[in-house]
Amino acid sequence: MKIASDFRALEPSDTTQVAVRFNDAPLKLTKGENLAAQLLAAGVLQFRKTAVSGKPRSPYCMMGACFECLVFVNGTARQACMTEVTEGMEIVMHTVGNGDDA
Ligand code: FES
Repeated sequence: MKIASDFRALEPSDTTQVAVRFNDAPLKLTKGENLAAQLLAAGVLQFRKTAVSGKPRSPYCMMGACFECLVFVNGTARQACMTEVTEGMEIVMHTVGNGDDA
């Protein structure tokens, strides 16, 4: 579900849009930009669920400290705030029970 978002890039260095998928939904994101910021700008607000309660989580620190932005990128757990957008990324929400919960 896409919703309106207040997140916008200040001055994109490259405005080339590339195709990625988030939970099987197609998205166009700006190549080379921060994945977490681009997903937020595209209206993705839930990146993972907590292991204990299953509550939804979103990026918090945007600097690699909190791990609230964990997603799977091409099958590997990644911090979205520490990852650049590349063509063809297959991004999946990090969920409890998928074998990579802390
Ligand atoms: S938002 Fe905190 S580690 Fe990514």
